[in-house]
Amino acid sequence: MSQLKLAIVGAGVIGKRHLLASTHLDDFSLVGIADPFPGAQAVAEKYNTQLFETTSEMLRATKPDGVVVATPTEHHLEPTLQSLDAGAHVLVEKPIMSDMQECEQTIAKSQSTGKHVLVGHQRRYYALVNKARELIQQGHIGKLISVSGQWTVRKPDDYYDADWRKKWQAGPILTNMIHEMDLLRYIAGDITSITAETANTSLNFEKEDVAAMVLRFKNGALGTFLISDQSFSPWSWEHALGENAAIPRTKQNSIKFMGTTGSLEFPNLTLWKSTGDKCNWSSEFESTELVNEQEDAYIKQLSHFHDVITGTQPPLVSAADATATLRATLAVYDSAKSGARVTF
Ligand SMILES: NC(=O)c1ccc[n+]([C@@H]2O[C@H](COP(=O)([O-])OP(=O)(O)OC[C@H]3O[C@@H](n4cnc5c(N)ncnc54)[C@H](O)[C@@H]3O)[C@@H](O)[C@H]2O)c1
Repeated sequence: MSQLKLAIVGAGVIGKRHLLASTHLDDFSLVGIADPFPGAQAVAEKYNTQLFETTSEMLRATKPDGVVVATPTEHHLEPTLQSLDAGAHVLVEKPIMSDMQECEQTIAKSQSTGKHVLVGHQRRYYALVNKARELIQQGHIGKLISVSGQWTVRKPDDYYDADWRKKWQAGPILTNMIHEMDLLRYIAGDITSITAETANTSLNFEKEDVAAMVLRFKNGALGTFLISDQSFSPWSWEHALGENAAIPRTKQNSIKFMGTTGSLEFPNLTLWKSTGDKCNWSSEFESTELVNEQEDAYIKQLSHFHDVITGTQPPLVSAADATATLRATLAVYDSAKSGARVTF
């Protein structure tokens, strides 16, 4: 594989995760970091690369083939557009942008420059996610009828010390549901309408403590989902897999996909099928635990970014696809606020 020049904009929590992933790949050479925060100098030294205060200086000096945009979401747009204009392909963190208008600007710029935008929904790189998608989309549980899921955790109290974390933009819908929504769309297909309610009776901040929603999928299935950052429970993606060192692994599945001839518990895949030919409430069940390896999705994502830059593969998560995930996630908030069903 040819070595390509990679630059990172924003050397915070997730920027460092991409930097770490880059050390596992020979196909990129790191040419620079852009971050105005003086603390980023230590990060640049650690990764033996140059620090620039602005994206434009970095682009001029290093002429990268690929740029990872890992700035706070409200600062995704400018470095993304600048990088595309400079002839680089972009891997931008999720959510792709703050609103629909910024998404449209990004898609238009990608089209006019002919450069790709890949969006950092890293869960799509797990083999277990792709296995679940294959089982459902290839009809292994029959026709998908219903989906039931939750992401219910209690975040530490000091998480909310910063005032911005009390605002609606930092609530579990926009911070956490975006990952779940992307998974649901990727595995079960597009969502055509959402109805939701929220409550904030625990912390009484502007942000919600819980949201409950009803989702209608394009294939006709209905789903319900609960998202909460004030519910002490063992049921979340992170608890199920032990992906995050700060969150203990419970191995409890948090989403169930139910079809006419079987069901799938997710993300530790357990497939429930009938022991006989018939599938009804009198049928005996057999369950199978499907193989599920621990993987580093960030390395796989960056490796895919290399293939996107070289034109070997189209983006697994395109700007248009990630825009649909953001639209559905924002609809949860909008429906709860208006009391009306949001359809797309
Ligand atoms: N994929 C995931 O699971 C995941 C997890 C966490 C965060 N994120 C996303 O990553 C993004 C960053 O989140 P974070 O937690 O790393 O934030 P952070 O605050 O830890 O880091 C952001 C960094 O960007 C720098 N920065 C700010 N404005 C900049 C600019 N204009 N140009 C260059 N650098 C700038 C800041 O100095 C800081 O170092 C957000 O969009 C967030 O939603 C994704």
